[in-house]
Amino acid sequence: MTRSRILGTGSYLPAGLLTNFDLEKRMDTTDAWIRERTGIERRHIVAPGETTVDMAEHAARAALTAAGRAAREVDLIIVGTCTPDLIFPNCGVMLQGRLGNLGCPALSVEAACSGFIYALSLADKFIRAGESKLALVVGAESLSKLTNMNDRGTAILFGDGAGAVLLGPAAEPGILSTHLHADGSHLELLRCTGGVSAGFHPEGDYIKMAGSEVFKIAVNMLGRAVDEALEANQLGREALTWLVPHQANIRIIQATAKKLGMSMDRVIVTVADHGNTSSASVPLALDVGVRDGRIKRGDLLLLEAFGGGFTWGSALVRY
Ligand code: ACO
Repeated sequence: MTRSRILGTGSYLPAGLLTNFDLEKRMDTTDAWIRERTGIERRHIVAPGETTVDMAEHAARAALTAAGRAAREVDLIIVGTCTPDLIFPNCGVMLQGRLGNLGCPALSVEAACSGFIYALSLADKFIRAGESKLALVVGAESLSKLTNMNDRGTAILFGDGAGAVLLGPAAEPGILSTHLHADGSHLELLRCTGGVSAGFHPEGDYIKMAGSEVFKIAVNMLGRAVDEALEANQLGREALTWLVPHQANIRIIQATAKKLGMSMDRVIVTVADHGNTSSASVPLALDVGVRDGRIKRGDLLLLEAFGGGFTWGSALVRY
């Protein structure tokens, strides 16, 4: 049976930086509070006019270069994002137009911070079914555009960026399993107000989050998700080489690592420098770990994410 494997990774961060000290000047917060409660020190912010698809294109081209493949060979594009450039065309199609591989299916998946895990799972299924031979999977977000800079409960958390992987067929897996979940009964705890049919608010539409409630549910669901991934593959915790988690809060990451019995030096952590980049956070962390040489071919990686919806999921990957 055909399985899929990661052929290359790429990422992109916009040049603009917003530090905790910048935030101290704008709102009632401190660098010490943000670092202690979240682990975040700075986040990258898009330049005026720079968009989600611009960042997705940079990350996609870097993944293609890393894999030594040409854009024209790509036969499937899936972009995880909740901050699209336009209502339509979707970001996948816009990215396809930039890359020039016209004709192949291209879509975007809106699953908030789990967008990349959802996109990866879909692309894996296309490859297993024989419907794709080279799939570009991207997570890209301009979350700063949805952040109320007067709300200290959210403004300290979010950043912008993009990450990408190129997936191709392989006899040996690659992607060992993916598990996706959603629970749509907690809309009031985490949402972005406003939309096409619900209507937009004249004062702006921003992320609203009941942080500590979301925190507890995230820790619980991610704990279950990592158990589920290991059990489905009949693997023990000791089999894992790296945890590549969603970068929402260092304390959530630490809780998941503890659950797995993994020391933090086996966890790829980028939250200090990137903040929470939603769909981009897992592929960004993966690319950082690959490029700095920590993640090597043959390593067993557990990728996980939790976000608005709620949505959550995992991917167990032999890199
Ligand atoms: N600076 C200083 N003080 C603050 C700040 C701030 N930025 N924010 C809150 N506080 C205060 C609160 O007012 C409260 O004060 P009080 O005790 O006097 O009432 C105190 O600090 C504690 O507030 P909590 O909200 O309980 O703080 P907590 O430790 O839970 O941290 C945080 C808040 C960082 C938001 C955390 O709850 C969190 O990370 N939640 C999960 C986020 C997440 O994973 N979201 C899912 C993905 S996002 C997506 O999908 C788009």
